[in-house]
Amino acid sequence: MSNVKIFVEKDYAALSRRSAQIIKARLEEKAASVLGLATGSTPIGTYEELVRLFNAGEIDFSQVTAFNLDEYFPVTKENNQSYAYFMRKNLFGFVNVKETNIPNGEAKNHETECAEYEKKIAASGGIDLQILGIGNNGHIGFNEPTDVFPSVTHYVELDASTIKANARFFANESEVPRHAITMGIKTIMQAKKILLLASGAGKANIIRDALFGAITPANPSSVLQLHHDVTVIVDEDAGKFIC
Ligand code: GLP
Repeated sequence: MSNVKIFVEKDYAALSRRSAQIIKARLEEKAASVLGLATGSTPIGTYEELVRLFNAGEIDFSQVTAFNLDEYFPVTKENNQSYAYFMRKNLFGFVNVKETNIPNGEAKNHETECAEYEKKIAASGGIDLQILGIGNNGHIGFNEPTDVFPSVTHYVELDASTIKANARFFANESEVPRHAITMGIKTIMQAKKILLLASGAGKANIIRDALFGAITPANPSSVLQLHHDVTVIVDEDAGKFIC
């Protein structure tokens, strides 16, 4: 798979440093990059490292446009479980990103919001570098396992397993929103470069299946095998079945 580069790092801190260095290198090549950003616990270390580099004057986001992958729906921007809140607390509140975009969890009409979000990504010239985490069931963004790869930005019903997995961030499972807006698989696959991150033994099986399993919408992450430029960074625990 010459289209996939795999880094197996010693631990989460090393994974986060490697990932921030790849983002930094991309911005050095193209200061006005369009970055696709992810939420979840995995990219938090990367964002911390980017903030550190920014404070040290080693990275500049002043020409960067950012698009987040997904957002719960409905959710207010002030809800501390919204991805809008997550991004402010982990990155946007601390660096000088020129323009940030996150699907609007407060939109009146989710269909219109999806169509407008997709149009906005296209109008930006497309995503230069898309950062991805991976769900335990292989979801990327909130593209859940299904029968066909979903195409563009769309409204989705979350899997019971995703609701359960994400309940750790909420007071209890019943508070986890049942729906979300997410970039589609086509949206993600149109990114010029993809950076997939995974940490911990709990991700070892799904990382093996994503990279070496059957390409099927039953495991949305498997589609990444068809992308022309994917970099995967795992720690030794998440990478134990691929090296
Ligand atoms: C969430 C997000 C995904 C993320 C995934 C994994 O559901 N929508 O974009 O990749 O969960 O999260 P974590 O990194 O916490 O394992």
